Amino acid sequence: MRSHLCGQMRDTHIGEEVSLCGWVHRRRDHGGVIFLDVRDYAGMVQVVFDPDTLEAFALADQVRNEYVIQVEGKVRARDDEAVNPKMPTGMVEVLGRELVILNRSETPPFQLDEHSSAGEDVRLRNRAVDLRRPEMQEKLRLRSTISHMVRQFLSDRDFIDIETPILTKATPEGARDYLVPSRVQPGNFYALPQSPQIFKQLLMMSGFDRYYQIARCFRDEDLRADRQPEFTQIDIEMSFVDQQEVMALTESLITGLFKEVINVDLGEIPVLSYQEAMTRFGSDRPDLRFRLEFVEVSDLLKEVEFKVFSGPANDDKSRVVALRLPSGDRLTRKNLDDYTKFVGIYGARGLAYIRVNSLDEGMDGLQSPILKFLPEEVVNSILERCGAEVNDVIFFGADKARIVNDALGALRNKLAEDLDLYEREWASCWVTDFPMFEVTDDGAVSAVHHPFTMPAGEMDDMEADPLLTLSHSYDIVINGHEVGGGSIRAHDPEVQKAIFRVLKLSDNEANVKFGFLLDALKYGAPPHGGLAIGLDRLVMLLAGTLAIRDVIAFPKTQTAACLLTSAPSEVDAAQLKELGITLKVNKEQRD
Ligand code: AMO
Ligand code: AMP
Repeated sequence: MRSHLCGQMRDTHIGEEVSLCGWVHRRRDHGGVIFLDVRDYAGMVQVVFDPDTLEAFALADQVRNEYVIQVEGKVRARDDEAVNPKMPTGMVEVLGRELVILNRSETPPFQLDEHSSAGEDVRLRNRAVDLRRPEMQEKLRLRSTISHMVRQFLSDRDFIDIETPILTKATPEGARDYLVPSRVQPGNFYALPQSPQIFKQLLMMSGFDRYYQIARCFRDEDLRADRQPEFTQIDIEMSFVDQQEVMALTESLITGLFKEVINVDLGEIPVLSYQEAMTRFGSDRPDLRFRLEFVEVSDLLKEVEFKVFSGPANDDKSRVVALRLPSGDRLTRKNLDDYTKFVGIYGARGLAYIRVNSLDEGMDGLQSPILKFLPEEVVNSILERCGAEVNDVIFFGADKARIVNDALGALRNKLAEDLDLYEREWASCWVTDFPMFEVTDDGAVSAVHHPFTMPAGEMDDMEADPLLTLSHSYDIVINGHEVGGGSIRAHDPEVQKAIFRVLKLSDNEANVKFGFLLDALKYGAPPHGGLAIGLDRLVMLLAGTLAIRDVIAFPKTQTAACLLTSAPSEVDAAQLKELGITLKVNKEQRD
């Protein structure tokens, strides 16, 4: 139907007869001449109809935005004053001779140029129209390019792409499973994979040596701007490797993509231990684009009368931390109140601060609601340890370590955002040596990464004191986003069984849940390890957006709904019956 693409038209085409197809982006009537901006996936070109071509002119007069048309005409140079340097096709236009309306369009739910006023729900409900926007086209094309580059990189290094099941058994990655009922075995369910973790390990035991898959994963968990219930991993596993080798390969893949796609040199990626990341930044995915760091002051506050500080200072599960904000004098009283409310979201019971108005006047140079509770020499030691300067504000968090880390870690990011404290556009790091286990809110011991990770140290020590055991695990973090994570795996069945014991899985339960893995481990499992990179997050960063939904063609909302198809939705009574399922919730409860 077409000889060229709209977006390809350049001055080299001047004089050529062309046939173009696309959507009417805009129609302008300029006193007897009609201009149509016609858009296809390659871009946009201006087509002009004048009344000399009677029939085409009459049709051009009828078309409206988003009509689909075919145009035949001749490419010509635009007059000097009509050249549009902002458009790649802006040197030329097509003088339309014939026009065919291939399809009409009702008034679209929003004008493509004015999408931002439409609201995201309108855009998601009309995703087919939304995805026509050049920015969306660009992001999804970028995603495709990145996937292609990843495949090329891995296949060049002998990785093979193997698909693993979607209808499977629970794979513990720490989220809830999505379940699928079985019709032929009523009462039984498949789980959708939270990741291909166990299958990729089995492939190592099968001798494939190097596996990858661009794999869809499903996790029923609370959503955030960079989280979706179904998302895609670049999933990698390798045999006969140590942690450094997996990290080096990943680093080469990621730094290569940054260089090729956006010409950014990420440089050598620094490595922080989990312990160091938590101590200095209160987070295992620290944003290192700016400098703010926690300063531990617990030891200075053990004796003070102010219980808010001395309590946590004397408790080994708590900490008291100072966070120095240079030039904090730009913060108003209202800002400070707002930040106090903000840390409350993370469970902090307050946000003490000291304003440093002068360093020469002792306590008189300082302003703070807590000074009256603290001896001068303690205040001086704090100021000194923080490296305080005039006009700083020093914030304090005192509580259980988890609360201080969450609250001041989030405050750190918020201050950077609000005050634009960023000193570099990109900052990445590795975080390594995560604890093997943690205690969850309900008091149970669970694996921090997943239970197939190789613990560090002796197994006897692990079983005696699991919470002190570290693991051979690593996450890669870019601008505060966890972009990927992995570990060296337990390849010895005895180690795997010891991990299950710590997790309080009886031998029987371990066999029911993971017998197939334990069996495979018995017959000669090579040492192996790997990681998974969140493709959506990686593309999000490379595309320069902060919303993962922008790089997924058909994403879900905060309530895990697909507004386009209205999934999840009710199913027929007959279908439920066939599956042996009776619903307890009624329609009102569901809505
Ligand atoms: P992990 O759970 O750390 O590891 O996941 C790996 C990476 O996947 C991305 N990711 C997500 N992206 C979008 N939405 C989500 N809900 C979501 N959850 C995770 C993150 C994360 O770093 N099997 C292990 C990997 C391994 O050990 O090899 C795993 O899944 O970028
Ligand atoms: P209060 O004694 O509760 O009036 O608190 C005095 C100051 O300490 C206020 O500025 C509070 O915001 C702050 N504060 C209270 N609890 C904490 C805490 N757990 N961590 C940090 N600051 C706190």
